[in-house]
Amino acid sequence: METTDIETDLSLFKYDNLEQLPPEYRELERDERTKRIEAALSTLGDDVVILGHNYQRQEIVEHADFVGDSYQLSVEAAEADADYVVFGGVTFMAESADIITDDDQTVILPSMEASCPMAGMAEALQVDAAWAEITAAAPDDDIVPITYMNSYADLKAFCAEQGGAVCTSSNAADVFDWALENGDTVLFLPDKHLGENTAYELGLEDSVAEWDPWDPEGKDAAEVAESDIVLWDGYCQVHERFRVDHAEQVREDHDDANVIVHPECRREVVEAADVAGSTATICETVANADPGETWAIGTEVHLTNHLQRWHPEVNVVPLCGEACMDCNAMRQIDPNYLTWVLEELVAGRERNVIEVAPGEKELAELAMDRMLDIA
Ligand code: 13P
Ligand code: SF4
Repeated sequence: METTDIETDLSLFKYDNLEQLPPEYRELERDERTKRIEAALSTLGDDVVILGHNYQRQEIVEHADFVGDSYQLSVEAAEADADYVVFGGVTFMAESADIITDDDQTVILPSMEASCPMAGMAEALQVDAAWAEITAAAPDDDIVPITYMNSYADLKAFCAEQGGAVCTSSNAADVFDWALENGDTVLFLPDKHLGENTAYELGLEDSVAEWDPWDPEGKDAAEVAESDIVLWDGYCQVHERFRVDHAEQVREDHDDANVIVHPECRREVVEAADVAGSTATICETVANADPGETWAIGTEVHLTNHLQRWHPEVNVVPLCGEACMDCNAMRQIDPNYLTWVLEELVAGRERNVIEVAPGEKELAELAMDRMLDIA
C-alpha cells in the first residue's frame, strides 16, 4: 500500500491532525485483516457504527453497518446512537456527520488524505473575495449563495450567514427555486456541471454565467450578477471524464442499453443519458429494473461494481467500458487504515477525528436545516 508523501501533499488537506498509517499495518494480508476488523468490531459492539459511501471499495463496504449516499449516511450517523462513527467516505462527508450527530459522538475518518478535490475548489477565503467583488458590483441585486453538499463546513457556514443554503444532487432544483423566490440570483458552488444541469431542469439555461475564481478579472462582475444562475468554476474530475461517445459505444455494444449518469457529469453527457440522478437514484433505478435489462452506469466505478454484485439479475455495465473512473479521494480509505483506527479504539485511543469548529458547526447546520425545510 502506498501512502501520500506528507511533506508535499499536506497543504491539500483541510485537517492538520493527519496521522499516517503505522508501518506494521501496511502489509496486512486480507484474511488476517478481516479477522482483526471483525474482532475489533465485536469488542466495540454498539459503541461504533461504520458507514460506507456507495463509492467505497468492497473491503470497506462489507464491514459497513450502512451503505448509501452522502446525505443518507449522515442521517444514519445521527440516528445510530453509537459513541464512534467511523466514516468510509471523504472529509466533507465526515464533517457533515459531525455537524448532524450529537456533541458526545465522535466521527473518525480512517485516512485524513481522503479529501474530495471538488470540495477543495471552493475555499471559503476565495469565495469571500468573489462575494465581495460581485455584491459590490451589483448592490441592488439580492444574491443567494447555495453550496452543494460536496463542500467544506466553512463554506456551508458562509452560505448560512449570507442567507443561503445547502443542496444535494437530489434536491438542487427545489433549493434553486427557493433561492430565486428569495432573491434575484443564485451563486452556486462548487460544481458547475450540477449547477448547469439544474438550470436546464428549471428552464433557466439562457440565464447562466460562469465565475472563474482563478481569473476574477476575466468577467464583468455586474454583468455576471444579472444572470439568474452564477456557476462557480469547480468540477468533479471523475464525472467530468464521461463523454457522449461512451453512451454511443455502450448502445452499440448492447442494443437495449439504458444509460444512467450522475448530474456531476457534463451537460452533453446528461443529455445523452436516459436518466440522471444521485447515487441513491442510481441504486434505486437498478434495484427496480426488470431482470435482463441492461443499465450502463455513469458514475464512480466502485458503485457499478457493487450494483453488479447486489443485482446479478440485471445486466449492469460501466458506462466507460474498460476506462476505470475511480475516485482517488475515496480510494484513500484503505482497509488497513480501517483495521488501525478500530484497533486503536479498542485500546482507548481516538485517531483521525473530524471535528468541525464550534460556531462554524452551528452555521453549517443552519444551512443544512434550511435545505431540509425546503425539500
Ligand atoms: P452522493 O451525494 O450522491 O452520495 O454523491 C457524492 C459524490 O461524491 C458524488 O461524486
Ligand atoms: Fe469528490 Fe468526485 Fe470523488 Fe465525489 S467522485 S468524492 S465529487 S472527486
